[in-house]
Amino acid sequence: MPGDLREVQDTWERLAQIDPLWAVLSEPDKRGRKWCPDDFLATGRLEIEHLLEDLRSLGFDGRESALDFGCGAGRLSIALAAGFSQVVSVDISPTMVETARTFAGGASNIRFIVNDRDDLSVLAPGQFDLVYSNIVLQHMPPEAAAGYIREFYRVVRPGGFVVFQIPSHLTEEWLPGGGGSVLPEEARAARVVVLDAPATLVAGQKTVVRLQVTNQSGVDWMQDLVHQINVGNHWVGADGVEILHDDARSRLPGSVRAGETCEVSIEICAPRVTGCACVEFDVVQEAVCWFADHGSIPARHPIAITAPISEEDVVESAPSAYPTFMMNGIPRDEVRDLVAACGAEVLDEAEHITEWVSYRYTTRLKD
Ligand SMILES: C[S@@+](CC[C@H](N)C(=O)[O-])C[C@H]1O[C@@H](n2cnc3c(N)ncnc32)[C@H](O)[C@@H]1O
Repeated sequence: MPGDLREVQDTWERLAQIDPLWAVLSEPDKRGRKWCPDDFLATGRLEIEHLLEDLRSLGFDGRESALDFGCGAGRLSIALAAGFSQVVSVDISPTMVETARTFAGGASNIRFIVNDRDDLSVLAPGQFDLVYSNIVLQHMPPEAAAGYIREFYRVVRPGGFVVFQIPSHLTEEWLPGGGGSVLPEEARAARVVVLDAPATLVAGQKTVVRLQVTNQSGVDWMQDLVHQINVGNHWVGADGVEILHDDARSRLPGSVRAGETCEVSIEICAPRVTGCACVEFDVVQEAVCWFADHGSIPARHPIAITAPISEEDVVESAPSAYPTFMMNGIPRDEVRDLVAACGAEVLDEAEHITEWVSYRYTTRLKD
């Protein structure tokens, strides 16, 4: 297995062991094994229902065989198995595949395969009516994603459909501007509001907090490559003494104009102490200053920190418990060239915008 795929496999295997459903659909309020499996699987049924409606409107009539590449916990495979005689589900993580197998409950028309190769040589050519891959190709190096896309067209039958999602580029809002510019003194005025944070945490536990950040100065904040403008946090004890300086960071968008407000999430980690504490959020320009040191008023949110009491608490509270998955994209023009080079045509490109501009490409291999 190539080295960079080993890293991908390690990350997904660890995530699958810790919290497989959240790793697939990372809703902040579902972290810590909080997804109800029925609700999780229902999202897959809805997605596949819409997919098949869209495909039929484009002339797709296959019912025999589908490939779900990067099947995760089986959310899409199980839904596909209701519409196809045979589904093949491939994933790089053995634990994801085991989870999917359990959810599939012995469905006889799904074949699960753990594949850690950078190709799909485990699959014979020209066998699928449909190849589908959603929120997978973004989590690997772009060269690996391009290699799998080529393989999709090898394993689909002539006239068959290949539908895959992959980001193209970061939105302008999230692109950093120049490098090395320091905001002037009068720009260092922020209002931070905590939108959503817990009242208690276990010592060492991580949690995602949503914040609203307003640029209260008369100067536009333009993101910088070298001196990034971030929101960060410290922890302060009940006595006002700092317990932990510099916990987490989250980048602000590419620009927050004078008077503008943006929303960001930040993953904080409770210090390994118990008792009442306050988490303090402030804007920081890296290697320049915290805004609070220049008169800006940080947001404070009280959190009671408790000692771990169960095994589950301990696992959840381990600081490195959740590894971070990589996010990558391939520019849309390159994807179009790749599809054409594989002898296929693009029938539809559905745009989806988050930090990334992403596309779901619906393509058909020419007969
Ligand atoms: C965000 S999950 C999506 C799962 C599924 N497609 C869904 O939407 O429910 C990403 C999945 O891609 C898998 N994956 C990542 N790299 C892969 C690779 N090179 N080959 C196969 N699966 C991969 C991960 O193990 C993980 O299960």
